[in-house]
Amino acid sequence: MRFITFVLLFILIPGRTQPLAAQSYDDPKNHTCLQCHSQQAYAFHNDLMDKQEKRLMNPYYILDTIAIRNGVHQNFDCTDCHSFEYSTYPHTATLKLEPMATCLDCHGGDEAFAKYEFDKIDEEFHKSVHYQVYGDNFTCSKCHSQHTYHPSARNSSSITEIVENSNNMCLSCHNDMRKFELVADSAIATVVDIHSWLPNQELHFQHVRCIECHTAVEDDLMVSHNILSKDHAVRRCAECHSANSLLKASLYKYQNLQERAEDGSLLGVLSHENYVIGSHQIPILKTLSLIIFFAVIGGIIVHGIFRIILKK
Ligand code: HEC
Ligand code: HEC
Ligand code: HEC
Ligand code: HEC
Ligand code: HEC
Ligand code: HEC
Ligand code: HEC
Repeated sequence: MRFITFVLLFILIPGRTQPLAAQSYDDPKNHTCLQCHSQQAYAFHNDLMDKQEKRLMNPYYILDTIAIRNGVHQNFDCTDCHSFEYSTYPHTATLKLEPMATCLDCHGGDEAFAKYEFDKIDEEFHKSVHYQVYGDNFTCSKCHSQHTYHPSARNSSSITEIVENSNNMCLSCHNDMRKFELVADSAIATVVDIHSWLPNQELHFQHVRCIECHTAVEDDLMVSHNILSKDHAVRRCAECHSANSLLKASLYKYQNLQERAEDGSLLGVLSHENYVIGSHQIPILKTLSLIIFFAVIGGIIVHGIFRIILKK
């Protein structure tokens, strides 16, 4: 054990001229930071007492290594974003005071990421109720962990996955008193109580995102970021439960979902367009109505052709 600690301390000595090669997340035991930051309890050598000690890790500082590996920043080393001084423990107290890079510091105005429209998102975010009330204390990181972030609306072909990923961002705070109090002074209101007027809540939260009812839809953006105050939230059932649902402009607009529409053929697209949520469809009826539709069109064309021929 002593030997390992010694080796560890040697690796951790700050101010080395050669930076370490990026460490893999595959085996947390071999990763200097993750030896502590992926464990419930961490061990360190207490230099003052000259003994090995174990302590409990702050649960919010335990990172999910699998989620990191699936995230967009998987190729980063911890010290690409955090000061190299974190290599020593106890961490230097003043490190707490240093500013962290925000999404825009790296992604703002960068052509390589133009399709995500970071600058437009930033603009919309500044209009949102969170930023209006809490200013710079409410950052992108409150919803997007830089460690694990990965887009899903753009990539996934599963509505359930998109909805879950999105709603978890909101619920990670609106359902967690501690994270909520980090931002607000007010007590938290339970999401379930707030929406008691909504029937079948569980089903709704599995099928629609919080942002469907709480943002202004912005056509240029994949995901609307302007969260409106509660007076502007969607309450009218008909806005979704009708043929021309608002969901078509938000959740169902994604190409990746539409391509998936059952068989991808004209039939799939046509019926998708006319989908009324909640009215469970009967496939046979759908097919039948399309057959009738095309038969009528065919009839009119044949009829027209005969009229032209007969006139001559
Ligand atoms: C020996 C265990 C250990 C190692 C190794 C370790 N940390 Fe920590 N780290 C902690 C503990 C414990 C805390 C909780 C705050 C404290 O005690 O200083 C912490 C806190 C932090 C914080 C939050 C600081 C704050 O309070 O805002 C960051 C960021 C951090 N560590 C990054 C790193 C990075 C990056 C590495 C690797 C270069 C690393 N740590 C290696 C134990 C460790
Ligand atoms: C892409 C940049 C980036 C990388 C890579 C990164 N971090 Fe972070 N980390 C951040 C930011 C930004 C925050 C502050 C989050 C916030 O403001 O809530 C943070 C916060 C933390 C915290 C404090 C807990 C928290 O959520 O506030 C710890 C601990 C930490 N990082 C450890 C690590 C370790 C260990 C690694 C490597 C496995 C790592 N970080 C890699 C950007 C990064
Ligand atoms: C320290 C700089 C830095 C910060 C801070 C940062 N990123 Fe990144 N991000 C990068 C780099 C570099 C890449 C390219 C990584 C690669 O290709 O392996 C990337 C990749 C991405 C991608 C994937 C782009 C693509 O299509 O390949 C997304 C999405 C993304 N970041 C979003 C975010 C968000 C959201 C935040 C804030 C929560 C953030 N980033 C913060 C540097 C950063
Ligand atoms: C209140 C929560 C919240 C805040 C704050 C927030 N976002 Fe988002 N963001 C979301 C949600 C929810 C999604 C949808 C996730 C998905 O399905 O990919 C998203 C998606 C994204 C995407 C992917 C969009 C795409 O085209 O694929 C990017 C990039 C992004 N956010 C960047 C940012 C940046 C930059 C900030 C800060 C200026 C920010 N976000 C602040 C909730 C938030
Ligand atoms: C079907 C539409 C709908 C969905 C989905 C929805 N909300 Fe709401 N939400 C509303 C309406 C309408 C109000 C206003 C209620 C009122 O004023 O009494 C509201 C109010 C709120 C409030 C303000 C509470 C207060 O009184 O201060 C919060 C916070 C909130 N919702 C968060 C969420 C979160 C988080 C989700 C996702 C898990 C979500 N909402 C999903 C329609 C919705
Ligand atoms: C880090 C914490 C955090 C996250 C993440 C978060 N919120 Fe909030 N949200 C707050 C706080 C704090 C308030 C203010 C509560 C108050 O003062 O009434 C708030 C207020 C709201 C309100 C009510 C505004 C009003 O008029 O009172 C809505 C709606 C809302 N959030 C929706 C969302 C949605 C949707 C998401 C996810 C996309 C989300 N929030 C993510 C912390 C958060
Ligand atoms: C943001 C869009 C949206 C709003 C607003 C909305 N719903 Fe829904 N609702 C859905 C979706 C999506 C489903 C899941 C439908 C499915 O899979 O068939 C659903 C399902 C339901 C179901 C279950 C239907 C079934 O077939 O099992 C009922 C009942 C329902 N909603 C009633 C309401 C009522 C009443 C309101 C107004 C208070 C309302 N909804 C507002 C989108 C919405």
